[in-house]
Amino acid sequence: MLELTHGRIGYGPITIVEDLSISVGEGEAVFLIGPNGAGKSTTLRGIVGLNPLTRGTLTWDGRDVTRLPAHQRARLGIAAVPEGRHVFPQLTVVENLEVAARVASHAGVKERIDDAFDLFPRLAQRRGHLAGLLSGGEQQMLAIGRALVQRPRLLIIDELSLGLAPVIYQQVGDTVRELAGSGLSVLLVEQNARLAMRICSRGYLLSNGAIVLEGTVAELEATAEMRDLYLGGLGKVG
Ligand SMILES: Nc1ncnc2c1ncn2[C@@H]1O[C@H](COP(=O)(O)OP(=O)(O)O)[C@@H](O)[C@H]1O
Ligand SMILES: [Mg+2]
Repeated sequence: MLELTHGRIGYGPITIVEDLSISVGEGEAVFLIGPNGAGKSTTLRGIVGLNPLTRGTLTWDGRDVTRLPAHQRARLGIAAVPEGRHVFPQLTVVENLEVAARVASHAGVKERIDDAFDLFPRLAQRRGHLAGLLSGGEQQMLAIGRALVQRPRLLIIDELSLGLAPVIYQQVGDTVRELAGSGLSVLLVEQNARLAMRICSRGYLLSNGAIVLEGTVAELEATAEMRDLYLGGLGKVG
């Protein structure tokens, strides 16, 4: 269980998000959606430890991790897929996974990589290809694979859908939903509200550095804000 309470996060003297409280339960898939510039990635940086919380607390399994450095939070099972994927373009698919797996531990590297290949068979087919030459969807699978080989208990994905065709991000999204169903906690940071609501059961709408709405998918779908701003009057999420 991750719990951010009254968090303030920014860059040096600049505050971007203020008084932010969100939680992700065990095996739960939760979204953080909002327009470009709302502060979603900044929030993610506060959770993984890249930007300090200048106010508020972050607990993970009841333990206060507010002041822990990023690598220690990673060791405790918090993994993030950064916006823009950031795979190593000059390394092959399997090399990318090996590097990420070894960061966590030198034991069981092959098993963890095989699990990633089971989850994304497309990556197995491309195992010897340079990551820089993969399609956007394959790079997103690889970026998620790099997080998963660390055997996290919380997976945070920043902009899963960015730059991908709907058929591709829906496919990757369905895999993420299955992961959550199998016990992994997921925090989906997304601009694409429809995708977020397809994958997750509840979530938060961030605007200008503050949570303006929160609730289950059904509750949020019923609000005028979501209909007007994010669903474009398209009705139920399918
Ligand atoms: N390194 C930085 N230094 C100062 N401000 C930043 C930095 N990175 C992002 N910002 C600002 O923080 C705000 C929120 O950005 P971000 O968290 O990336 O939003 P989102 O992910 O929701 O699009 C933006 O106004 C952005 O300009
Ligand atoms: Mg962002």
